[in-house]
Amino acid sequence: MCGIVGYMGNHDAMPVIMSGLKMLEYRGYDSAGICTIDAGAVEIRRSSGKLINLEQLIKDKPLSGTIGIGHTRWATHGKPTVANAHPHKGGGVVIVHNGIIENYLTLKDELITKGHEFTSETDSEVVSHLIDEHLKTSESLEEAVQQALKHLKGAYALCILSQKDDKTLIAAKLGSPMVIGIKGDEYFVASDMPAIISHTREIVVMEDGEMAIFRNGGVKFCTTDGSEITKASRFVDWSPLKAEKNGYPNFMLKEINEQPQAVRNVIAGRLLEEIGDVYLEGMNADDSKLNTFERICLVACGTSWHAALVGKYLIEEQCRIPVDVEIASEFRYRDPLVSAKTLVIPVSQSGETADTLAALREARGKDAYIVSICNVVDSSIARESDGVIYTHAGLEIGVASTKAFVTQLVALYLLTIRLGRANGTIDLAKGQQMIVALGELPELVKKTLELDPQIEEIACEYLTSCDAIYLGRGISYPIALEGALKLKEISYIHADGYPAGEMKHGPIALIDRDMPVFVLAPNDRHLVKVRSNMEEVITRGGKVIALCSEGDSETGRRANFTLTVPWAGELLNPVLYSVALQLLAYNFAILKGKNVDQPRNLAKSVTVE
Ligand code: F6R
Repeated sequence: MCGIVGYMGNHDAMPVIMSGLKMLEYRGYDSAGICTIDAGAVEIRRSSGKLINLEQLIKDKPLSGTIGIGHTRWATHGKPTVANAHPHKGGGVVIVHNGIIENYLTLKDELITKGHEFTSETDSEVVSHLIDEHLKTSESLEEAVQQALKHLKGAYALCILSQKDDKTLIAAKLGSPMVIGIKGDEYFVASDMPAIISHTREIVVMEDGEMAIFRNGGVKFCTTDGSEITKASRFVDWSPLKAEKNGYPNFMLKEINEQPQAVRNVIAGRLLEEIGDVYLEGMNADDSKLNTFERICLVACGTSWHAALVGKYLIEEQCRIPVDVEIASEFRYRDPLVSAKTLVIPVSQSGETADTLAALREARGKDAYIVSICNVVDSSIARESDGVIYTHAGLEIGVASTKAFVTQLVALYLLTIRLGRANGTIDLAKGQQMIVALGELPELVKKTLELDPQIEEIACEYLTSCDAIYLGRGISYPIALEGALKLKEISYIHADGYPAGEMKHGPIALIDRDMPVFVLAPNDRHLVKVRSNMEEVITRGGKVIALCSEGDSETGRRANFTLTVPWAGELLNPVLYSVALQLLAYNFAILKGKNVDQPRNLAKSVTVE
């Protein structure tokens, strides 16, 4: 994962790089570092922990120079210590790296026998030594980089500086994202556009196997094997959204509370109530195209995978099209059954998740038609898809996904209407009814947010629990999974979600009087069965917190706590239950004094396998 930044121009590199790193902190925040070169002198500052530590270090020991590179890290190889923080220096070569060098141990051994001394446990350091080694026999830094890259296996986005050639910055990409910004004779390199577009809107998107060499106020693009290429720049017309807490104590709470508006945004301009249909502007597939698909395959990771599971319930039941839901990291390695008659739908907030992107490429190689559901506009997954349904949740800063998840659910509901209208499984009346229900959703989300004081009470009551279980049936089952994931991520309480009927096949052994069991019990067709599952827990002494529907005074009677959630209809209830469970996790985490925006070990965008 990690975020990289590079700069060459006529201004001080340090503030440009630091502001770029700030915008990339979502990619990792366990250590950070920066290097500039000024009149041949290489200056490096590195610190462990959040970027603020590096900012402090630089305040005490500033650096100068108009050329530099920076890095914010999410540790893969080696603990998040200062020694493992980037930039890494091998001889006179300094690099920052995003990706994983899979053969680093072999390369490291070879380089050690040639006299190189390593100071970190990272895979990345090997790149700096390898380039340094090739510099001995190459005519230029550019040639040394090209020679070195031939030996690397894995993924990289690299920015490279050399003490010997202190007027050159080189960037190279394979498998990890990289964009370049151009502003006259100033150049910006970054893992992602937000780090650049406050400086320039002229952007070049780098592709795998490409390099950029910045020297003397100019840039040369070539392939990593040395053939010169021409790259067209394009103008990016969206603005970097500002990350403001607007009076909230943290981004997560702000984003949870933004959900009524986020739902309005995802449906805005898309509802065609009169014809009982929806307009999905970027989908690029008309009815005849949609009706060629024999199967749908949703691919995603983490929270987005939970949204995809809800999508399966929606699409299979309403549109009668077979849907597989795949964990993206598994999909690509098992020769999946995908063809030109498969509609593959990657679901991703960031649009940069390496596993989801790789799954997309796997599907592309098998001729599938790809329509992604993404939040980040112009992200790699969006760019590489045949069509895209943007979720318009807005910038999500909190690492644990909240409003992005809820808008994914709504986007999948919209897609369900579109598919059902295209193949006739949803008729006019049903389409209209689904759209009306959607129109009422923002207000119901708002009403669900008002449950916060009761939810806080529940969190207080069970604050000392070490484990928790979430149960749901049917379309509520993926929401039980998501509720459990939210709790784990931000409060570090172990939690698992199960289909309520599956409890008796094993997990029920975990029930004792210390085990809180959150039961999702909307008043839908599964309620009678869910009540029985609740009884099984109560009988064994477990503590039941029942999330029931408005107007249902029966289900919660034997529960330890009842939370009454508004009713949005069976297909949209998952949205409201998600909001309630987000607040639950949030309250647990806050009461435990955790950092909800940047939970330990996590990053917002997972760009490594
Ligand atoms: C959890 C969370 C992650 C992401 C996952 C996929 O709160 O946010 O599980 O859902 O890393 O990320 P995207 O959706 O960006 O592909």
